This record gives sequence, structure tokens and C-alpha cells, in this order.
Amino acid sequence: MRLPLLALAALAPFGALFAADLPALIPLPAKAEAIEGRFKLTADTAIVAPGELANEAGYLAQRLRTAAGIPAPVNATGAGIVLALDKSIPAEGYALEVTPAGVSIRGGSPAGVFYGVQTFLQALPAAVYGSDLAPKADWSAQAMKVQDAPLTPWRGLMLDSARHFQPKPFILKFIDAMAAQKLNKLHWHLVDSEGWRLEIKKYPKLTEVTKDAPAYYPEEIPTNPTFRAKYRYGYNHGGGHYTQDDIREIVAYAKARHVDIIPEIEFPGHAKIALTAYPEFSTTRKVPEVRTNISPDLIGVHPEALRFIRDLLDETMDLFPGDHIHFGGDEAPKGQWKQSKEVQAKIDELGLRSSSHPEDALQAWLFNEMAAYVAKRGKRAVGWEEIMHGDNLGRLAKGSVIMPWLSVKNGAVSANSGYGVVHTAVSPFYLDSYQVRDDREPSALYGGPFTAESIHRFNLFPGELTPEGRKNILGAQCQLWTELMPRTDDVEYQAFPRACALAELTWTAPDRRKDTGEFMARLAKHGDRLTALGLNHRRVAPPPGAGWSPVLLAAGRPMEIPVPAAVAAKLAKNPTLTATFNYKEGGAGLDIASVELLADGKVVATDKHAGFAGTHPRDNVYRLALPKGQKPEKLVLRATVKGSGGGDSTGEVALDASK
Ligand code: ACM
Repeated sequence: MRLPLLALAALAPFGALFAADLPALIPLPAKAEAIEGRFKLTADTAIVAPGELANEAGYLAQRLRTAAGIPAPVNATGAGIVLALDKSIPAEGYALEVTPAGVSIRGGSPAGVFYGVQTFLQALPAAVYGSDLAPKADWSAQAMKVQDAPLTPWRGLMLDSARHFQPKPFILKFIDAMAAQKLNKLHWHLVDSEGWRLEIKKYPKLTEVTKDAPAYYPEEIPTNPTFRAKYRYGYNHGGGHYTQDDIREIVAYAKARHVDIIPEIEFPGHAKIALTAYPEFSTTRKVPEVRTNISPDLIGVHPEALRFIRDLLDETMDLFPGDHIHFGGDEAPKGQWKQSKEVQAKIDELGLRSSSHPEDALQAWLFNEMAAYVAKRGKRAVGWEEIMHGDNLGRLAKGSVIMPWLSVKNGAVSANSGYGVVHTAVSPFYLDSYQVRDDREPSALYGGPFTAESIHRFNLFPGELTPEGRKNILGAQCQLWTELMPRTDDVEYQAFPRACALAELTWTAPDRRKDTGEFMARLAKHGDRLTALGLNHRRVAPPPGAGWSPVLLAAGRPMEIPVPAAVAAKLAKNPTLTATFNYKEGGAGLDIASVELLADGKVVATDKHAGFAGTHPRDNVYRLALPKGQKPEKLVLRATVKGSGGGDSTGEVALDASK
């Protein structure tokens, strides 16, 4: 039988990439092989770890106690699950060996051991990530050998807590969810025009003014009718902030999970709320009037304004021990600086008049002043791409990190010029975008769809990079801007599972993650872990399905999809096959005329209704009952379909069994 190309592509990796019984590991380790047997957790299972690994042992013990209900004592010596440091392994790397007799996790550092623990947890039932006891789960792990280390040091998510405030318990949960994917950088957007969320003792009005601010501004309502219909303006109040005690608790929680928090204190733009609280630090000294996100109001460069920024950085650095601090720097329209005599005098004083863009050069000077200030405490400054605009490359302080969000090319140019670069391009890393094209999805500012697949396929090392530049690529990060995410449920849904694709992009070497289809199959299984983590995530269609593509549609043949063994096994109990045609992207969609089920080449069931899979799907679920006595073997689904409109759509068919 000739199988459609896409069906083959979807099926082949299961046997090909690894032994069938390895658990679905995400991110895919550098090397992993399943071996004979299983390791069983019992009431006698102990965790053996030296004092330096008390944190990692405690984390593992807590998971096993909570979910498996075993005592999991932590001992200094003995047998069981043995954690150890091994300096021959890269710092964030680990070697994991699971055998029926015991488990060994060796890491190059406590972080490496922690990641080995995460991989071990993925060999246990998904419930291990949950907060409830799961006594019925099979508390055993597939025996396997894994050797692993991350591709890049920056595996990040940016969370905007300024546009909408998320309460502390959510932040802790979010950090747990990141750690489970081996993500290690939480870039925390704590301040913006709409809200200042960080308690600053010296400037209490920052958070006081925030209490009365709306969650976002009416002017920001997008004009697109589908956005408007779903835009939940006024859904919740704009108030809320983290006290310094909250921050200390969150930072300690993150540290225990090897997540660094990079706080973002924005200047000179996106500062409306700060300048409403303290207009004396603005360029105009007036309370801002314009209520838009990209506010025209800029912090000034007079001595009091510089003192203000340094004071903010002092308290921020006292709270966040990590080695990076973010200065924002994006979307700072220079109108006020152009008109201010004081600012223009400063440009002259600094000798910046002859530069091609004097106000941009002044922004670079301001950035550098503050970069030098934080460098005294061992911190590296990070800024959005705009800090290199206006011919600022070369002018910026050495050692600065740039986040190119507007242009991947500017990332390559910055890296070639010696700056650290974290990929943050809108496409595909802005998660305030649709993750599939479907009107039922939550509203999104950035369109899209930017899919998990597109993140997984991103090229971290574009061709423009020189060998030196390549070394400056620190990794990548997804952005969660929350203008349209008033509820924490919304944040979770937009983040997951796309953050898992980012995790694999930044962890797994490119030659190891060539097969995005195979990743999606693992991701579908990984969904159970996201559920156990309590996340409101988008479910990936159950694997293995198969789908359609422009190539398949152009061939004009019926789609033929072999029913996978896992679904056939379910059919033995629940003998009706359901086939759901899910549109993903591209022109119009798919017209479905009829669907047949074949057993050993003979039609045994037919569902002949007309259906459509597209942005507005219609009757796109087909039900095919297996006749009594028919064994669920050698089954193939055959669908007579036609591309609708331009005919260049892509989608998948999810197969499952039901009564
Ligand atoms: C940004 O999206 N303004 C960094």
C-alpha cells in the first residue's frame, strides 16, 4: 500500500529515533537509551545524597512523598536513588542511570543533578508532578541510561506582571512549571506604563499610584473585531504588587529550582506610571497625560532623574541575586528629548551632537551609565533591541546583552559585534499570539499563529553569524505580554505547551531535534505532566495522528492513515473510531466528503457526512463503528477530501476510540 507522505513522516520516528519504551522525554536528552527492566519505588526507597545536594534531594523527596506517598528518607550513605557531584560532567549536565536495582544521578553541579532528577521524574507516572497522592499509579520507572547537557545557557520565559498582576502563588507555580522543562531564566517584566509591581521602599508612591490604575488603557483596545469581541476590558482591577518579602520568598523558591530571575526596570520609556508617581524625574516635570502603552513620557537625564534610576537599581539588586538585570530600553519615542533644552544641552556636553542619531546615542549613554553602575556589583546589563538602534552598536558597554525582538538579523549583527544575544523575535517567540488558527482561541495581540512547531524549528544560529558571533548566542526566550491575559489561566494557556518547544530548542542540539513531527508526538504525551502541574495548557492532538499538507492535497488522492497500534488496542474495548480533522494553518481549509474505515483493505465502516476543517470548523468529527466480531487489526482510515479555497492548508487528524 502506498502511504501518503505525511502519514509516513508522522509514523516513522516512533521506532526510528529511540527504543519504543523510552518515556517521552522533553527536552530530548543528548543521549538516551532504554534498557531491560524497571525500577520500582517502594516504602524502603531512600535518597542518598551528600550535604551539598540537600536541596536537590529534598526536591525529589518531596515529589515522591507527595505523589507516591512513600517516606523517601534522605540519607548520607546507602543504596536507592543516589545523587552525586561529578566534576568530569559539564556544569549543567548529568548522567542518569536507572536500573531495576537502583538509580544513579551524577551531575557536574547541583543544577546538573537537578536536571537529572527532572529526567528521572519523567520516567515515572505524570502524577509525580502533581500535588495529590496518586496511589493507583504504577510507581516504577523504565530502566534507561541518559547522558545529557544543555545546548545554551539561557533558556528563558519573560513574564509581564505589569500589564496584569499575577498573585504570588501563581509565580511559584510558574517557576515549578519552568523547572520541569529545564528552563532556567525567568525574565520578570515588573514595571511598565500600566503598573509598577515591585515595592521600592524609597519611592512608595510607585505602587500606591498603581493601585488606582486600570489594568490597561482604553486606547489599547485592538480594532480587529475578533479581538474586540473577546477583549475583556475591565475584567479585573489593575492594582497589585509584590512586597520585598514576597520577592525574597519567590527568589529563594526559584533558586532552589535553579531558575534565575532577571528583573526588568525599564527606562527611559514605558514609564508612565513611574512618572505619574514622581513627575519630578520626567523630562517635562509634568504628570503624564497620554494614556497609551507606548507613552511619549520619558525619564529625564538631569541629576535627580539619574539618582532615581540608581536608587531603583540599588533596591532591585538587593533583592535579586542573579548576575543579570534588564533595563528595558524599547519603544522610547524621542519627541520629548528632542524638544527639551536641558536634554539637548546634555547631548552637547557629552559630545554626541555629531552622531547620526543624537537622542539614540544619549539613550546608549544612559544605558552605559547604569550598566557601569550595576557592574560594580557584578551584574551584566540587558536591553531590548532598540538599545543598538541608531548606530549604537559599538557605543554600548562591552558585555551588555541584547534581546532582538524586531529582527533576527539584528541579533546576528549584535552577536558578531561582541554582545551577548538572547533570541526573542516576535515570530515565533511572542506568546501573545495565536498558537493555532482557531477563533475559539483566546485573543492575541500579535496574530500568528506562532506554533510550538515554529518555535521548535527556529534556527538559533543564522547564517550571518561569524564563528565568534556564534559563541555570543546565549539562547532564546519566549515572551508573555499580558495586555490580553487578565487571568493566570490565560497566561498558562498561552505559555504551554509552547514553552516546552522553547525548552527543547535551547536544550537539545540542532542535529538531535531535526524531527519536529517526532517532538510533537512526545509533546502530546508530555501533556499529562502539564496537567499534573496544574496548568491550563493547550492539548496537542493525541499521537500518532496524521494530517494533510499542500503537497498531499495537490496530489488529489484520498488520505490514507494507518490506525496506530495504541488506538487499535483501545478499539478492542471501545469499538468506535473517532477521527477529528484539525486545521492548523494555511489557506482556507479542508472539505471532507466521506471517511471510510478499512480492515485488511476492505471497507468495514463509512461516515459519509460533509465536513469542513478550517478556522470555523463544521462537522469535522467522523465516527466509524467497528462491526461486531471485527478484530481491530490492519486498520486504515481513508478520507475523501479536497483543499478548500487556495487548497494550501495544513492540519492533522486525531484518531481515538470511543464507545
Ligand atoms: C517589546 O515588545 N516592546 C520589547
